[in-house]
Order: sequence, then structure tokens, then C-alpha cells
Amino acid sequence: MLVSGKSILQHAHENGYAVGAFNVNNMEQVQAIIGAAEETQSPVIIQASQGGLKYAGVEIISAMAKTLAENTTVPVAIHLDHGTDFTQIMKCLRNGFTSVMIDASHYELDENIRRTKQIVEMAKAVGVSVEAELGKIGGVEDDIAVDEKDATYTDPDEAAKFVSETEVDYLAIAVGTAHGPYKGEPKLDFDRIKVIKERLNMPLVLHGSSGVPEESIRKAVSLGINKINIDTDIRQAFHRAVKKFVAENPDVYDPRKIVGPARDAMKEVIKTKMEMFGSTGKAWR
Ligand code: 13P
Repeated sequence: MLVSGKSILQHAHENGYAVGAFNVNNMEQVQAIIGAAEETQSPVIIQASQGGLKYAGVEIISAMAKTLAENTTVPVAIHLDHGTDFTQIMKCLRNGFTSVMIDASHYELDENIRRTKQIVEMAKAVGVSVEAELGKIGGVEDDIAVDEKDATYTDPDEAAKFVSETEVDYLAIAVGTAHGPYKGEPKLDFDRIKVIKERLNMPLVLHGSSGVPEESIRKAVSLGINKINIDTDIRQAFHRAVKKFVAENPDVYDPRKIVGPARDAMKEVIKTKMEMFGSTGKAWR
């Protein structure tokens, strides 16, 4: 069942759990996500980043995601991750995305507000939900790189001003996570999550969630995180499974045999995340 991002995240916000937002570039990933959502009866968000869209194209990603979303009973939203370009965001709206992110977090507050408002007006006119980012999340994701020294945590006062002026549906906050693999153990600023949640009382988003210890994820959810972005952990599950299969079967050249086990491995990782985020059994009809 294809639904808006807001309907999924408002439900998570009201019921105190988080929904996984998993990045996709190919068919196997979309199938792994929907399979995991069905087996755990979780609402879920399928998202495509700049790199994913460059690799597969908006039309192909949306056709795959929409086909599977419309043929399952669990609630599914299709989301643009880190949208930066007005034209691309419009293309996603035309192609049936039900949620878009405008990431203008590298601009000063007023310019971030101006750019975000412009997207909110367009998207809401066609019933599509909007995520924005305030503060700068560190790390590397496809074409977007933020050096650790340039990463800045979200300020609760700025967040309150930002949300009241832009009317975004959910907000990505910078609280110590980073995109890509971690070198050491990430330390989350839990007090900041709590304060921002109390101030805003709306769905909050955690980026860079791969490799964050389970305990920290569970605590972040209990304090009000409702959307958890995962990309790296799925890529690594894919890589491990393909490497293993090829090492054990060096002469097999059928792509289905090589990539099939990776699809199963990704599904298992996604199911574990859904349980950790508390979305298991939360699907509604
Ligand atoms: P990871 O690299 O930690 O999986 O983060 C993904 C993400 O935040 C996508 O926006």
C-alpha cells in the first residue's frame, strides 16, 4: 500500500517507534525491503539518494518501488533522500514519490528556510510530504561529503524557528551520527534529541544510522527519533554475501545465482533493524 511519508511518520511519532528508511539502487534491494516489511508487518520507507538516482534513474527506481508498494498490504512510502536540486525534486513528484527531502543544510539558516519553504509549497500542493535538515551531518554519502570538522549539531531554538517558518513534516537533526562506516564508536547527544523532541513535538529523523550500536539506536527511538536512515549496513550485507558466493563458486556466472543470496542477506539485516526500531507489527490496513 503506497502511502505518504507523513502518514507513516505521524503514526510512528504518535506511537513511540521508528520506521526504517532504507536506500535502494537496484531491484534486489527493493525486494529485500518489501520482503522484510511483509515478514515483520512493518511500515517502511524506500528511499533513493542522489547516487542511487544517478545509477538507476528516477523512472526506474520509482517504477520498481511503486509496483512492489502497490502490491503489498504493508504501508510503504517512496522518498527522495538528500534532494538538493529543484528540478530533480519536481521530477520525483511527477514520478510518484510520496515524500521528498530538501537538504539545504549547508546554507545559512535564512537561506535554508527560504529553499525549504519553496519545496514545501510545491510538494504539499500535490500531497507529498517533506523532510528537511538542520545542522550538518558529517560523513560521506555518494556525492555529498561533510568533513567532521564542519559537522554542526542542531540547535533547538533554531529548529523551532525553522519548523514554524517552513512547516516541514519531519526534521533531520544532527546529533553525532555520520554517513558511511564509522572509525570509532559514534557518540550520540541524547540530551539534544530529548530537548528537540520536547520543543518540536513532531517526527524526527536520524541519518547515518548504520554501525550505531543497538543500545544507542533503542535509546534514540525512546527519546523521539521516528525515521532511521540505513544505507551502509545494507551495502555491506550485499558485499559480504556476493564475496562469499563468488569465493565458494568461482565458476558460476549466472547473475541471479550471484546476487540472489545477497538479496536474502539484505532482507535479514533489514528485519533485524525493523525489530530494533520497534516497527515490527505496526503495519496497519
Ligand atoms: P548510513 O551511511 O549510516 O547507512 O546512512 C544512510 C543515510 O543517512 C542516508 O541518508
